[in-house]
Amino acid sequence: MEFSIKQGSPEKLKSGCVVVGVFDGGKLSIAAQALDKAAKHALSDVIARGDMNGKAASTLLLQKLPGVAADRVLLVGLGKAAELNNKAISEILRATFGALSGSPAKDAVLYLIDEGVGKDAAWVIKQAVFAAAEQTFRADSLKSKPSKPATLKDITFASLEKPSATLKTVLDQAAATAHGMDLAKTLGNLPGNICTPTYLAAKALALGKSHKSIKTTVLEEKDMQKLGMGSFLSVTRGSEQPAKLITLEYFGAAKTQMPIVLVGKGITFDTGGISLKPGAEMDEMKYDMCGAASVLGTLQAVAEMGLKLNVVGVIPTCENMPSGKATKPGDIVTSMSGQTIEILNTDAEGRLILCDALTYSKKFNPDTVIDIATLTGACVIALGHVASGMFSNEDKLAQELLAAGEQSHDRVWQLPLWEDYQPLLDSNFADMANIGGRAGGTITAACFLARFTKDYRWAHLDIAGTAWLSGKQKGSTGRPVPLLTQYLINRTAPK
Ligand code: BES
Ligand code: MN
Ligand code: ZN
Repeated sequence: MEFSIKQGSPEKLKSGCVVVGVFDGGKLSIAAQALDKAAKHALSDVIARGDMNGKAASTLLLQKLPGVAADRVLLVGLGKAAELNNKAISEILRATFGALSGSPAKDAVLYLIDEGVGKDAAWVIKQAVFAAAEQTFRADSLKSKPSKPATLKDITFASLEKPSATLKTVLDQAAATAHGMDLAKTLGNLPGNICTPTYLAAKALALGKSHKSIKTTVLEEKDMQKLGMGSFLSVTRGSEQPAKLITLEYFGAAKTQMPIVLVGKGITFDTGGISLKPGAEMDEMKYDMCGAASVLGTLQAVAEMGLKLNVVGVIPTCENMPSGKATKPGDIVTSMSGQTIEILNTDAEGRLILCDALTYSKKFNPDTVIDIATLTGACVIALGHVASGMFSNEDKLAQELLAAGEQSHDRVWQLPLWEDYQPLLDSNFADMANIGGRAGGTITAACFLARFTKDYRWAHLDIAGTAWLSGKQKGSTGRPVPLLTQYLINRTAPK
């Protein structure tokens, strides 16, 4: 899908479809008025007959209007101007691209960034690009007869006035973000028998090949042994698939500039290990590598944008399987930090691979470290599927992530990291246990990680409720690629 932005008259731009808005009660937007005039009041006639009343997210496709260069005209209901909030705009854009992809149009010109809808043109452009990408995404490549690729290929955002250079940049960044989300979604949806740790490593190496600015390295189990990663290695013990520790280094600024490190949980399948999970919906544990997928998607987006900063991706990846060799409840392991851990539940494995990856991340002399993990079912109970859980040991970083979430509509909500929770991780036999009981399960998981991140500015994102959808709409969402890329874009802005 290609995106561009330009100035032009709605009736004159040639395309498969021109999209204009209609407000509540059938009031035409300025672009719609221009079309109406050129088409001898065809639009006002349609509205007078009652076929379109401007209700938010309603659509009506018209064909071959006289005086209009585009083959089709799509009327999109915008509702009441005063009620055009972020949520309404997202729904309108989703309906728009739903209608467009249901038509044979190969390209479309959208007049949605002027006037009413354009209160924040940058926001509309970003959400439109995400909605377009969502409509054209295909998840059925493994069916014997996959569906045809989308016919809609070119999207032009048009405006009556000359678009600013800033909006052009916003559009390019949104397109790169959408491509990063596509990568994250594709990897997330792949089954565990295809998307193994070795497969993820191959994808990371391929990213290094296709982008000169990315350098990928892959550590093997013997390397991790030497580094003393006893916690990470305890998780992979029951698996036949070799574990990998992937690093991707992106240099967009001077090598002396301290990097932002993104650490992504890459459990390619989580059975729970000896603390085996119940069978229902266990297939969804193929999504337990969505943190890793978001790191790959974000690095690809950052490289495509050519952002002027340094970013490192660190991905600990393995399976969590039961077997005669698997780690057992009660086993005690030594992490790379030297701290010992009593593994009371082998299903709390994410923190065990992350803690060693977080210790390893110190070697990059990080400015900031952010880990991203489908870490706890408790987070789904706390925040549902709307916000990702967010923790930080620095309030400024927390505020920056909250803001980036709003800007990208990929929101996070902060939970406390107070010391008061730490005693829940006490163990009689080791420095800590890997679980803290049922109460505050998302918080105690974060408290566990906090014991390994004292030397740098750090945030933890629990994406268990936001990385994928269940039921009929089952599929990866590509979150939090929009949040992470927005945060990184913001970090390049002059202070
Ligand atoms: N990958 C899961 C978390 C998860 C579960 C995400 C369900 C999304 C949906 C994680 O490894 C896990 O199993 N966590 C346990 C921790 C518990 C044993 C303390 C959980 O949440 O039940
Ligand atoms: Mn688990
Ligand atoms: Zn897990």
